Amino acid sequence: MPLRRSRARRSATLGIGLIGQRFMGRAHSNAWSQVTKFFDVPVTPTLEVIAARDEASIRGFARRWGWNRWTTRWQDLAQDPAVGLVDIGTPNDVHRDQAIAMLEAGKAVACEKPLAATLDDARAMRAAARRRPTFVWFNYRRCPAIGLAYRLMREGEIGRVYHVRAHYLQSWGGPETPLLWRFRKRTAGSGAHGDLNAHIVDLARFLVGQEIVEIQGAVARTFITERTLPGSRRRGRSNVDDAVLFLATFAGGALASFEASRLARGHLNDNAIEIDGERGSLRFGLEDMNLLWYFDARLPRRTAGWRRIVCTAPEVHPYAGNWWPEAHLLGYEHTFTNEAADILRALGGRRPELPLPDFEDAYQTQRVLEAAMVSARERTAISLREIR
Ligand SMILES: NC(=O)c1ccc[n+]([C@@H]2O[C@H](COP(=O)([O-])OP(=O)(O)OC[C@H]3O[C@@H](n4cnc5c(N)ncnc54)[C@H](O)[C@@H]3O)[C@@H](O)[C@H]2O)c1
Repeated sequence: MPLRRSRARRSATLGIGLIGQRFMGRAHSNAWSQVTKFFDVPVTPTLEVIAARDEASIRGFARRWGWNRWTTRWQDLAQDPAVGLVDIGTPNDVHRDQAIAMLEAGKAVACEKPLAATLDDARAMRAAARRRPTFVWFNYRRCPAIGLAYRLMREGEIGRVYHVRAHYLQSWGGPETPLLWRFRKRTAGSGAHGDLNAHIVDLARFLVGQEIVEIQGAVARTFITERTLPGSRRRGRSNVDDAVLFLATFAGGALASFEASRLARGHLNDNAIEIDGERGSLRFGLEDMNLLWYFDARLPRRTAGWRRIVCTAPEVHPYAGNWWPEAHLLGYEHTFTNEAADILRALGGRRPELPLPDFEDAYQTQRVLEAAMVSARERTAISLREIR
């Protein structure tokens, strides 16, 4: 992976090539262009090339976001000597070809979640990643409140974990929503499951620090089977789940429940996780993402209760010191900039603020997602040993 060292500035630069120019294209462009303004990182990113399919809009996108060059052929990035890291923000079914081509060309790769549309693709990506740095945009790990939860767990404040209760509920997937790539199995792999359960399985594994060893049961449901094709009156088949619920057991015995839906009216982006352990409990919800709720079960019952922690104190809460004075809140986009900072730290030989997910790590999440789908299909418990 070519890092370019500048003698005059005694710092390294890293050319970024980004594939995808819509939702994640904007989130990632913002992160790469903001990161050095807020973080002292050992490697400075340069926004070299943006690649996407839509020639009509890509030129304007490149100009607006400060990319030096653009291309409609993502393959160009592999041969581009100015590019050291390729960032993938495309639909799930193309992650595999793009990531493997870039890894084989010697680039570092940062890929969006879920790692891939299928477990087979994820396995191939993990194999290709062995000798190159890889990263996955499980960005919610980098909410300061999740960072604090991670540290409290590692410091033993929760103790043995009994329960993990996680849901990720959205409501945009009603019958009025057209047949986007997200509703086709071929392009997305799955629906709410790979989109939303992927995030909360990653958060649960990250916070608990153990692997899930068994799925006790799962149910997947497609409520809306036909949708209008985008920009047309014709209709096509939606063949992914709209909601998936499953129960699981962690290696240490903790019981976990996961629920993802795109049809939970009133829940807009309700990514929530609660962990109950022998010494206390933690609770987080993305719609109030600056807060961590903490129940210390060791306090006297007279004054015990849920503590509402505003996770914005510089020097005390992860990443908070890089942003604004206390309680001048952070939002969704900051999680991506925080991750970009950690990627640049890792590539520059420094420790990231919090552990970064790589392809191996994301493959383990993909195995859990696959096991849940097999469990739903076969209506039985599935050991993770069966899912390789
Ligand atoms: N981490 C998060 O919070 C988060 C949020 C949303 C999406 N995602 C993930 O990001 C990825 C992209 O999602 P999105 O919402 O940005 O999708 P999107 O539909 O908004 O954008 C997809 C982009 O990929 C481009 N594209 C599609 N097929 C391509 C191909 N074959 N070659 C090159 N470019 C291609 C499109 O032109 C478009 O620019 C998905 O894997 C999704 O799961 C992550």
